[in-house]
Amino acid sequence: MTQGVIVSGTDTNVGKTVFAAALAEALGANYWKPIQCGLEDGGDKERVARLSGLPPERILPEAYRLAMPASPHRAAEAEGIEISLAKLKLPQISGPLVVEGAGGLMVPVNRQTLLIDIFASWRLPVILVARTALGTINHSLLSIEALNGRNIPIVGIAFVGDENTDSERTIVEMGNVRHLGRLPHIPHLTAERLRQAFRGQFRLEELR
Ligand SMILES: Nc1ncnc2c1ncn2[C@@H]1O[C@H](COP(=O)(O)OP(=O)(O)O)[C@@H](O)[C@H]1O
Ligand SMILES: [Mg+2]
Repeated sequence: MTQGVIVSGTDTNVGKTVFAAALAEALGANYWKPIQCGLEDGGDKERVARLSGLPPERILPEAYRLAMPASPHRAAEAEGIEISLAKLKLPQISGPLVVEGAGGLMVPVNRQTLLIDIFASWRLPVILVARTALGTINHSLLSIEALNGRNIPIVGIAFVGDENTDSERTIVEMGNVRHLGRLPHIPHLTAERLRQAFRGQFRLEELR
């Protein structure tokens, strides 16, 4: 059985890829982005390769690579295809696996299915990546409620951004989730700077 964790977020652009790269490096895990939408910069797989320093064989190929930077259902339609759930089976590999979602939880993969429903079928726990900036309490508590509603285990919440003591506390208290740590904004982001920031902020035993 695959021992894995899903890195999801309260939104697109919150820092899932950066966090997932640091997590995969720290765990010596494999990384998998099942659906990539938008290929201008090569996609998240390539960014994780650069930011984690993981060997190429640990970065698994996507099930779907779609050019349009849009929701998966829309990006697939633009290429005249429909995303099939049969192609979104968890890769059977040995060792830990870090899976990065696309956008937030309620993102449609086709006209019938949301990403969160696929997460539920995989039976893996989720780490929720959230901003610390204004608006995060609402987005985070909504995401936690959606995960709870589908009985998806939540490892905890990983914040990204400048410290916001009250927002972070409010989310973990009212959402009843663990605060795993906070990745600060890292100027001139490199694999080494990310590795150091991650090690200083997160305790590995809480992330497994
Ligand atoms: N801790 C951080 N320090 C500096 N830049 C960050 C950090 N986290 C994310 N970013 C930047 O913010 C943008 C969005 O982050 P990304 O990880 O791609 O988000 P997501 O995967 O949720 O869409 C990227 O340009 C990324 O380099
Ligand atoms: Mg990403």
